[in-house]
Amino acid sequence: MKPVALHSRGAQLTRRSFLKQTTRAAATVAIAAPFVSRGRVLGANDRIGVGFIGVGGRGRSHVNTVKKLGESGELVQIVAVCDAYGFRLNEVSQQVGAKAYRKHHELLADSNIDVVCVATPDRLHVPQAIDAIRAGKDVYCEKPMGHWSQFDLCRTFFEETQKLKRVVQVGNQGNSSPAWGKVRDLVQQGAVGRIQHVQAGYYRFGDWGERMQIPDPQAKPGPELDWDAFLGDAPKVPFTVERFFSWRRYLDYAGGPCTDLFPHVFTPFVSALGLNYPSLAVASGGVFKFTTYDREVPDTFNMCVDYPELASVNLVCTLSNDHVSEPAIRGDEGTLTLQNAGGWEGGFDSITVIPHKGERRIVPGLKTEATPLHWKNFLSCVRTREKPVSDVEFGLKVQAALSMSMLAFLNRKVATFDAAKHQIVL
Ligand SMILES: NC(=O)c1ccc[n+]([C@@H]2O[C@H](COP(=O)([O-])OP(=O)(O)OC[C@H]3O[C@@H](n4cnc5c(N)ncnc54)[C@H](O)[C@@H]3O)[C@@H](O)[C@H]2O)c1
Repeated sequence: MKPVALHSRGAQLTRRSFLKQTTRAAATVAIAAPFVSRGRVLGANDRIGVGFIGVGGRGRSHVNTVKKLGESGELVQIVAVCDAYGFRLNEVSQQVGAKAYRKHHELLADSNIDVVCVATPDRLHVPQAIDAIRAGKDVYCEKPMGHWSQFDLCRTFFEETQKLKRVVQVGNQGNSSPAWGKVRDLVQQGAVGRIQHVQAGYYRFGDWGERMQIPDPQAKPGPELDWDAFLGDAPKVPFTVERFFSWRRYLDYAGGPCTDLFPHVFTPFVSALGLNYPSLAVASGGVFKFTTYDREVPDTFNMCVDYPELASVNLVCTLSNDHVSEPAIRGDEGTLTLQNAGGWEGGFDSITVIPHKGERRIVPGLKTEATPLHWKNFLSCVRTREKPVSDVEFGLKVQAALSMSMLAFLNRKVATFDAAKHQIVL
């Protein structure tokens, strides 16, 4: 077994360099925002114009979701797409007859666009989303809300969103899954007493998620591939096809299971249990299985996050074995377990309620495609100006736990949260 590569740049991230990096990122965003617009006020019969930044795997699937919503009667219209890689940009824009922009600022200047979907690599989400709200757009921002090193920038995003009164949905679509509403109801009804402990995980056999396909091994920066735009505020390193296409392997752009997979299993618990900011996080793991190629992010990751509400959430992940353990929510008067939970879309088949006293019972769950529901919730809030189910404040609470766990893991320390200053302390 090979432990985490402690020589890697990410692993050497000290608190000082972490703070320096996040401050630099915030400064970049402050300078980059070119204009401020207020956004148009939508009437009940107006079509909502949508622009997509990043049309790789996930961005394309969002384009298709919005297209289908439009075909099923939702008043929505795909206006434009933007990507740093010309091949993908042209392919998707031709497919759906949308305008094609090379730079996200050009897309944001398009007055026919009311809402923007950001589905670029993690590190670009928040800088582009901040630019979007400053341009008067509402935002569907993919998960994780930000890169693990960007908690302070995520807080700026939250503050600006409130100030500018924009609507933001973070792409944790499991939160829109009706099954989780049933967990929330059982918890609120006190079916198993006060919740004190959650145990869950993500189990997969294979590294395809991080290894990612390299569609053109000969690709080079130029008019069809914008390497600087891809880097954003990340360290300026020479181009490689692996970094550009297979970015999930590298700590500069991704975090591995913690930030890629845990948002799916962790977020619905935060919502159903009504958790706020964590008090403490510890984490362990490393590259234990996929040791033979250039890969920095762990394939094994375990995190324990404690909350001031006196609850502890424990998540485990291995990519070398897909044997599933049922998630368990333990209260002081019994336990809830979830059957056949998992996957990107969230949901599960049933909830078993096991009280300390009395009969166990089964509550039916539901497995359904949650992303269209998440979009519907977002689009409805764009009209009503209400908070979506994964609004930016909720997203920040989730991000705190993810960033704290990554920093604890990389620095081999305990991360705590200063609730008064809204800051992670290492
Ligand atoms: N919610 C979910 O279920 C889910 C599923 C998959 C991915 N995601 C998230 O979506 C994001 C994208 O993942 P993916 O698998 O689609 O990656 P991807 O590499 O397939 O797509 C990213 C796209 O962004 C483009 N890009 C890079 N820099 C850009 C820039 N500055 N401006 C415009 N475009 C730029 C790339 O060229 C690429 O086409 C990730 O953050 C990931 O976590 C979420």
